[in-house]
Amino acid sequence: MPMKPEIIFSRTAKQSSGVAVILSGADGAVSAGAGIADPQEVSKKAAKIADFKGKEMATLDILAPAGSPADRIVVVGLGEADARGEQFWIRLGGQICGTVKSAKKVTIWLDLADAKATAEIAANVALGIMLRAYRFDTYKTRKSDETDGPGNVRFTIVCSAATTAKRLLGDAAAVAGGVALARDLVNEPANILGPVEFAAKAKALAELGVKVEILTEREMKKLGMGALLGVAQGSVRPPRLAVMQWSGGKAKEKPVALIGKGVVFDTGGISMKPASGMEDMKGDMGGAAAVIGAMHVLASRKAKANVVGIIGLVENMPDGNAQRPGDIVTSMSGQTIEVLNTDAEGRLVLCDALWYCNDRFKPACMINLATLTGAILVALGKNHAGLFSNDDGLAAQLSAAGIATAETMWRMPMGPEYDKLIDSKNADMKNIGGRYAGAITAAQFLKRFVGETPWAHIDVAGTAMGSVSTEINKSWGSGYGVRLLDRFVRDNYER
Ligand code: BES
Ligand code: MN
Ligand code: ZN
Repeated sequence: MPMKPEIIFSRTAKQSSGVAVILSGADGAVSAGAGIADPQEVSKKAAKIADFKGKEMATLDILAPAGSPADRIVVVGLGEADARGEQFWIRLGGQICGTVKSAKKVTIWLDLADAKATAEIAANVALGIMLRAYRFDTYKTRKSDETDGPGNVRFTIVCSAATTAKRLLGDAAAVAGGVALARDLVNEPANILGPVEFAAKAKALAELGVKVEILTEREMKKLGMGALLGVAQGSVRPPRLAVMQWSGGKAKEKPVALIGKGVVFDTGGISMKPASGMEDMKGDMGGAAAVIGAMHVLASRKAKANVVGIIGLVENMPDGNAQRPGDIVTSMSGQTIEVLNTDAEGRLVLCDALWYCNDRFKPACMINLATLTGAILVALGKNHAGLFSNDDGLAAQLSAAGIATAETMWRMPMGPEYDKLIDSKNADMKNIGGRYAGAITAAQFLKRFVGETPWAHIDVAGTAMGSVSTEINKSWGSGYGVRLLDRFVRDNYER
């Protein structure tokens, strides 16, 4: 569950009991408030003894410092001055949050002796704290130190830009809220979160002013979504398609469209996956989670843009009624697909969602996120998502947003040589390519359903779940994509 530490900004403060956080860089930079928190310079002595050199994100913990009003002083390393960009301060906030654990009162002295913190820096530190405070402990009946995070901590960030920083806190809280929502959805087990339950999470965005429609099986049948429905037919839990519209922009402006793969559990279907590691497939809705999370952020901060979010929600199960390898289905586009492997189901869900989106909304661009292929993990590992696009401008905008938020992507090639690998003898296409370039042939498949609309596909199989541990995230579900999409909209559609 998302934990909400209390964060306030203050222009001045007296150090009281609790934890004092002071900063110290490799370049000699120190917190201007160090003298208040540590009048006897105990921290300097301790730094010498511990050989603490102010390396980036290093911490020095001093308990019961003599002569200080604080119970504990934590010195956090700033590293070199030239490496302190936006993401640095977010990570620093995360690092502080992780270090103070469940202290009750924390004062962070953010202004440096020779460089005052800007309001943006202060808000970024706050964002880092909020992101790191996340815990998924819904099912822990006995809370431990590990699960008992900094939910009840009161952070006071002391800096001269406090007044302006306060105004930026709302947006930071909106972002943290959307990321926490996405992480929760990815972490939640599939017995609790089926397509219907997931759709209800989308519906809940109505509270924020999002217009939400939920399409049921009957409506999808009428629309001819044979590809999506073919995947769903093996599950006793019926599919849903959630359509979320945020209209914060001008009435005539075409929307940005975000489309997500929401396979609540992927057994592989009749082409079943091996047992080992299959539990991870509860996270096969990471793309849909990012889309809901992003819609949550945009609505919470009342973004001045028109954005539509569409997520295809199904469960991929083996069953007497499940689709078989060799089945041929007809997608909403009219194109027929030979299903040669029922485990390549994500593209079958997305192709109908993409076609429906393009057909109904004529969007300015479409961006889909999906835990689509194991092949992208082989190619890129866990630090970059795969970026595929038919539009260089859109790809560049997304790459820039990815760098700005540290939710990075690496662009992958596409082309007719790859496209022909999914031609089928018996239908218009098949749902798998050959042995090689699996992430690319999956992208080529999607491309056949987007027409001329600028489109990008982000394969998040390596980044949405089983995430690498960072200062701002220790959770299995990372919420990858939420900050990226929010930033993309903010930088390209809100001015
Ligand atoms: N959901 C998986 C992809 C995946 C793998 C996500 C590992 C996260 C971690 C997807 O539906 C899948 O099974 N893809 C197959 C495609 C293949 C059958 C062409 C794959 O990657 O093996
Ligand atoms: Mn699969
Ligand atoms: Zn899948």
